[in-house]
Amino acid sequence: MTLSQYPARRARRLRTRGSVRDLVREHRLSSNDLIQPLFVHDGPGPDEAIPSMPGMFRHNLPSLVQRCGRAWDAGVRAVALFPKVNDGLKTLDGAAAWDASGLVPQAIAAIKAKYPELLVITDVALDPYSSLGQDGIMVDGEVHNERTIEALVQQAACHAAAGADLVAPSDMMDGRVGAIRRVLDDAGHSDTLIFAYSAKYASAFYGPFRDALDSAPRKGGDKRTYQMDPGNGDEALQEVALDLDEGADWIMVKPGMPYLDIVWRVKQKFGRPTFAYQVSGEYAMFKAASANGWIDEQATVLEALLGFKRAGCDGVLTYYATDVAEWFAERG
Ligand code: PBG
Repeated sequence: MTLSQYPARRARRLRTRGSVRDLVREHRLSSNDLIQPLFVHDGPGPDEAIPSMPGMFRHNLPSLVQRCGRAWDAGVRAVALFPKVNDGLKTLDGAAAWDASGLVPQAIAAIKAKYPELLVITDVALDPYSSLGQDGIMVDGEVHNERTIEALVQQAACHAAAGADLVAPSDMMDGRVGAIRRVLDDAGHSDTLIFAYSAKYASAFYGPFRDALDSAPRKGGDKRTYQMDPGNGDEALQEVALDLDEGADWIMVKPGMPYLDIVWRVKQKFGRPTFAYQVSGEYAMFKAASANGWIDEQATVLEALLGFKRAGCDGVLTYYATDVAEWFAERG
């Protein structure tokens, strides 16, 4: 027997003991990496369960504030708000989106009064307010870029005035980041960050979210004339370059798990604060499979979220944010 029949290099030596594995682990997930999206409705009624998103609710205002407290206490540092507005408020131009006494400004004020350090991120897009369910304003059967930007800048300024820490344009119009930056600066909101949904794909994974807000496109077709084609990768780099050039502070890739190659390329190329959104359809898949006992919910969710970090994310928007933070706290 000669020694040479043994492998000279043993990669497994780094995996032999838990303590060694703990010391050489390259990426970690913590509750500070997570952003909690939350839904709020404008009625006085109780919270409404969202059937395709078990565990998620359309909250009334007091319950939203409580829910923010749960997130903050668990270690989550940011929430992203999505309003479910009454059908009666929906119009062709989505004007309720920049009503200073509207649902989102009210929600921001209520949260900030109780949790001033919790970052509040607001969605800048017209779909929850549009009678057509489009992110922008339709002119001659098309979502019109410039008309839409005129609306979005008002919405962003309204949110910033109400105290939003970050405004997050999710509409994919060209030039909206630069326009929003100028309007915010002119209004004295130079500390409000812009969190750009830069590479947002026209995805089938948004289905449960559109159920939650009743915001599915009703007319004017799907969103493929503004959201990105899932077949494209280079184009995502172009979108990110434009948004950074126009003044975006944070950038986002959306959806998450099917697009980790995009996260990787974006982080490698630009090295800027990069986030991904584990969207409603991804959440629904984890919930459905684990409810059937087919996967271990905690283990698979933690593995997926760690994958986002390894791919280059600084943080992740996930409906699981508070749950994960609480799992960490329970484990100590
Ligand atoms: C719309 C918006 C969408 C999501 C966030 N903002 C849906 C869409 O573009 O139709 C989806 C989030 C999710 O699916 O979890 N501006």
